[in-house]
Amino acid sequence: MEKPAPGTAAAAPTADAKQAPQRLAVVTGGNRGVGLEVCRQLADQGVTVILTARDDKRGKDAVESIRRESNLSNIVFHQLDVQDDTSVASLAQYIENSYGKLDILVNNAAVIGVAADEEGLKALNIDTETWISGRAASLLKDVFQNTYDVTMNCLDTNYYGYKRVTEALLPLLKLSTSGARIVNASSLASELKRMPNEKLRNDLSNIEIWDEARIEALLNTFMEDVKEGRLEEAGWPTMLPAYSMSKMVINLYTRILARRHPDMRVNCVRPGFVKTDINWNLGILTPEQGARGPVMLALLPQDGPTGCYFDQTEMVNVW
Ligand SMILES: NC(=O)c1ccc[n+]([C@@H]2O[C@H](COP(=O)([O-])OP(=O)(O)OC[C@H]3O[C@@H](n4cnc5c(N)ncnc54)[C@H](OP(=O)(O)O)[C@@H]3O)[C@@H](O)[C@H]2O)c1
Repeated sequence: MEKPAPGTAAAAPTADAKQAPQRLAVVTGGNRGVGLEVCRQLADQGVTVILTARDDKRGKDAVESIRRESNLSNIVFHQLDVQDDTSVASLAQYIENSYGKLDILVNNAAVIGVAADEEGLKALNIDTETWISGRAASLLKDVFQNTYDVTMNCLDTNYYGYKRVTEALLPLLKLSTSGARIVNASSLASELKRMPNEKLRNDLSNIEIWDEARIEALLNTFMEDVKEGRLEEAGWPTMLPAYSMSKMVINLYTRILARRHPDMRVNCVRPGFVKTDINWNLGILTPEQGARGPVMLALLPQDGPTGCYFDQTEMVNVW
């Protein structure tokens, strides 16, 4: 594999001399946390990895760290901001020109969707069990702020961003010769038992009625209720509402894609409660442990499951 050239990406082979590796993966938000470790583990398994990050320097430094520390050369950088259509189109064009196909897409990039008073949060000293059970909502109401802009940014990254990247890369995934895999990062916050509104909970568990238009109508209603300050009254999740909604709809989107593309393996995964910036480093697993589920799903055999949710490496039912 060639060394990355100056600029946004690794030196690309010319269009008439495409170098299609056996398996090629794209990982979003690959510069830190679970995403960085997914890149490392996939590269270690012999997959050629395009580590993407929205920031050029952070992304290139991440690639260099993997090359240096793990002595792996089958990893390159390309800029990708999942919120930016031009950036997404540029990545798709780069893959088409350089490799002519894609085998694995790991939609990993995400934000937590609250403005947090970090000092106040740490002072609460919430234990792991309370934190991950979702029961901490009332304790957290003074340290978390669900503003309209922060909420919109979360949905735009964690749902619309996954959809934007997936739609742009689907034509290349369809050209995979080893069998396309899509892995979407989900969370315990997506469990439908955490949805207080009973009608919505029942609707969300009925995959037959959902498509992207219906998901987007639901998110618009949610945003209206955020604007009017009536989240609790309308029965939306009170613990990390934007994040929870984004992950609930990512589960639906995963199942819609799996149904539409039966030849691909499309799954979603909770990496576990991993110590990373997204949870202010309150997690208990290492990124190395957190990456195992996404990597397992990225490397599923052709007869593997599709349209499923995994808690780390275990398939579970959250809907
Ligand atoms: N850690 C956990 O306990 C946990 C639990 C359940 C689910 N998850 C899920 O696992 C995934 C990885 O989380 P993590 O713990 O590794 O979080 P993290 O350490 O905060 O990393 C998040 C990554 O997403 C990137 N990102 C955010 N917005 C982006 C955008 N618009 N375009 C491109 N990249 C963007 C960040 O890039 P910058 O560096 O540029 O900000 C960073 O690389 C997420 O989907 C998360 O929801 C994590």
